[in-house]
Order: sequence, then C-alpha cells, then structure tokens
Amino acid sequence: MSDILVHTEAGVTTLTIHRPDRKNSITSAMYGAMHEALAAAQADTTVRVVVFQGSETIFSAGNDIGDFLNTPPAGPDAPVFKFLHTLAAFPKPVVAAVCGPAVGIGTTMLFHCDLVYAGDNAAFSMPFVNLGLCPEAASSLLVPQMLGYHRAAEALLLGEPFMAEAALEVGLVNRVVPPSEVNALAQAQARKLAAKPLSSLMQTKRLMKMGQQAQVLAQMKEEGTVFGRMLTEPAAKEAFGAFMEKRKPDFSKV
Ligand code: COA
Repeated sequence: MSDILVHTEAGVTTLTIHRPDRKNSITSAMYGAMHEALAAAQADTTVRVVVFQGSETIFSAGNDIGDFLNTPPAGPDAPVFKFLHTLAAFPKPVVAAVCGPAVGIGTTMLFHCDLVYAGDNAAFSMPFVNLGLCPEAASSLLVPQMLGYHRAAEALLLGEPFMAEAALEVGLVNRVVPPSEVNALAQAQARKLAAKPLSSLMQTKRLMKMGQQAQVLAQMKEEGTVFGRMLTEPAAKEAFGAFMEKRKPDFSKV
C-alpha cells in the first residue's frame, strides 16, 4: 500500500499521510506522490478542494531522516522542493487536519494551507537548527510574519514546540477540537467550500496571496539553496548520525 493515500469524492481530494511505523515521516517518493496528486487535483475541473490529513495520533514527523542521508534533495527539481512549490502556488483551497506531532515540513506546509483544524493533541515544531539545517517552505518569512519575531525565534532558533492552543492564538490554526473530530471537521469544511463556485474560490485565493506570492517563492528558492548545502555539512551529519544512533548530538566541534 502507498504511504500517501489519495481519495477523491464530492469535489474534494483527500491526501492521507499513512506511514504509521515511521511516524508518518516523509520520503522522497512520498513527496513525489503528493506533488503528483496536487498536480492532478489542479488539472481536474471536478476537484475544488484538497485536504491533507494524518492520523489521530500523528500528522507527520517531518522529513524521513534516513532519506536525508541516503537521497538528499539535489537541486530545485528534488521531489520535496517540487511538492513545496506546487503547494505554495496551488490555486484551489487547501484544508489541513492536524493531530499529534507536526514536525518540520509537517508544520511549515501548513503556512500554505488555507484552513487548518487541529486536535488538542497537536504539537507543532520546526527543529531545523537542532538538525544543523535552516528553515524551508518560506517559513523563515512566514513564521515571523504570523508569530511575531520573538515567538518565531523561539520556534525557529530554539526549535521549541508549541501546542494547539498557542497555534490557535497566533492564527496558524482555525479551530481546536478533540482528535477524534478533526478529520471529520476538515471534511465538512472542505465540502462547504466545494459547494461554492470554483472561479470565485480561486480568484479570492489568488487576490489574498498575490501581494506576497513572488516573495514567498523567492524565499523558498533561497532557503532551498542553503538547505541543500547544509545537508552535506558537519552539523547535519552529526545530527542525523545521532538520530540514527539514538543519542544526543554533540555540536561542540561544528
Ligand atoms: N525519520 C525517520 N524515522 C523516524 C522519524 C523521521 N523523521 N521520526 C520517527 N522515526 C522513527 C523512529 O526512529 C522510530 O523508529 P524505531 O521504531 O526503529 O526506533 C519510530 O519512527 C517511532 O518513533 P519514536 O521517536 O519512537 O516515536 P515517539 O512517539 O516517541 O515520537 C516524534 C514521535 C515525531 C516526536 C519523534 O519520532 C521525533 O521527534 N522524530 C524526529 C522528528 C524530526 O526531527 N524530523 C525531521 C524534521 S526536518
């Protein structure tokens, strides 16, 4: 079975991240599958809305760390960057249902979703610095904008997690409900959107985003260049090695 389940019904394409044994961490192949599903949803005139969901206990542990080591993204055509670019430029509404940990790209991708519903067990974190990396998905631009600089510094420099209520307070999340209700709520909201005229949805989204779209894409490009370089540097190697060996990383020499 694929680790990305794609299901289309009543004008809504739902992408379920389903890799429970690896905490829904995402491999290059999974980014490729999500990119293709988004491209298909964009082209299909009967699809009006896309929903991303995980399970009641985990949204995503972020990039698969073994994959970072074995097949690091090489250049802008790497599946992760193609996925992020397609998501950031996606013209139709995107809804996310988030329960449990949302690590790294599990959080940064949400800044490109239009509606985000969270379980009260949702924990958002962007521990790029702890992995010897830098932010991606234009999060170095969008997180300070949404959280304010000092809260963004806690999230991005310290890599500290924040819970659903804090995400609600800063506006990353629309509503917090019990985990068992999140996917159903996201589907209900998606169905409401799907009943509206597609051209109005798309124009409204385009107009809300147009002031910043070029800047977002430029930021993602610059982040991608730096991120790709940092993946090969000693700090990241130490962090990934430590994760695989289940020990604390030692950054004293890098
Ligand atoms: N890449 C690869 N494997 C991962 C993973 C990742 N990002 N996240 C978790 N796993 C694996 C673990 O190594 C573990 O494997 P094992 O059963 O062989 O020991 C398994 O998934 C279960 O993870 P575990 O850490 O035991 O689950 P948990 O419920 O205690 O914690 C998380 C869940 C998500 C908080 C924790 O796994 C975590 O912090 N993961 C790393 C997140 C990360 O740094 N991602 C990169 C962001 S750029």
